Amino acid sequence: MNQVIELIKTDVKKEKPAANALGFGKHFTDYMFVMDYNQEDGWHHPRITPYAPLVLDPSVMVFHYGQAIFEGLKAYRTKDGRVLLFRPEKNVARLNLSCQRMSIPQIDEEIVLDAIKQLVEIEKDWIPNEEGTSLYIRPFIIATEPSLGVHPSREYKLMVILSPVGSYYSDQLKPVRIYVEDEYVRAVPGGVGFVKTSGNYAASLKAQEKAELLGYDQVLWLDGVERKYIEEVGSMNIFFKINGEVVTPKLNGSILGGITRDSVIELLKHWNIPVKEAKISIDEINQAFQKGELEEVFGTGTAAVISPVGELKWKDTTMNISKGNNGNTLANRIYEEITSIQLGKAEDPFNWTI
Ligand code: COI
Repeated sequence: MNQVIELIKTDVKKEKPAANALGFGKHFTDYMFVMDYNQEDGWHHPRITPYAPLVLDPSVMVFHYGQAIFEGLKAYRTKDGRVLLFRPEKNVARLNLSCQRMSIPQIDEEIVLDAIKQLVEIEKDWIPNEEGTSLYIRPFIIATEPSLGVHPSREYKLMVILSPVGSYYSDQLKPVRIYVEDEYVRAVPGGVGFVKTSGNYAASLKAQEKAELLGYDQVLWLDGVERKYIEEVGSMNIFFKINGEVVTPKLNGSILGGITRDSVIELLKHWNIPVKEAKISIDEINQAFQKGELEEVFGTGTAAVISPVGELKWKDTTMNISKGNNGNTLANRIYEEITSIQLGKAEDPFNWTI
């Protein structure tokens, strides 16, 4: 597809929020990207337009049957003023994986990547550059055919919006307390857990609420069949350091293939730190803890990058992991390295930033 992206300009500019008032996903920039799909024209009319509310018929399919997918990635501004994106081609490829599973027509990855780059370039003054901040990029697709029949929509909108963000958690590297959920599940084999579709996040809210009521920050998800094997933590992938070796659940069709997850595995290999992807049960984790071999647990995701886990509560067992660690952890080292690469402060031997 060789389509020119139209630019519809605005002179109305919003006031930019102060760096200490950013939060996560609360402020949006002046422009957004939009592209439409219909059966006659395919994906067409790519355009950058002033950020504005949508007008949608109440019958459009996304409101009823939830055909919706999204991505999340970040742009950074380096000290010398360059704009860097972190592995954006991976997000665009995963958007197509989500399209495939959710019966949404495939997008042209090149044009969407180009759209993201052009939009970020136009909005580069919105990229904050204080420690821990970035411009969060949210591409998404919704089904816009006005119809109540249950079938794949014949019309869609792909949009990209931008939000200057601070740390996902107010205290970025403060270890979080996790409740191991053994009643609700996030995903099942053959389901949609491996793609970024909105319903996965809607379905997770009940367990998150329960965890919070019990005084925990997030849930750890076990597999949907035996409730034995570890899948994810909150909306992140999870890693364990046991006796010097790092292990993360192997992608099995119900776990999301995180881009930060992939980057952490690459980085550990580069550092010659033993790392493996394996099917891993909560029982094995508990055994490692009881033997004093569970050294670290941390989550990985685009929003928080790395989120150390301080405590796991599983039935009657409390695993207190961060006891006695003085911050000199592998999780902190990984966080430092990845964010330094993202900010153009460290060498990027992997060519992750463009
Ligand atoms: C991430 O870790 O980036 C996520 O998937 C969370 C996001 C939905 C806010």
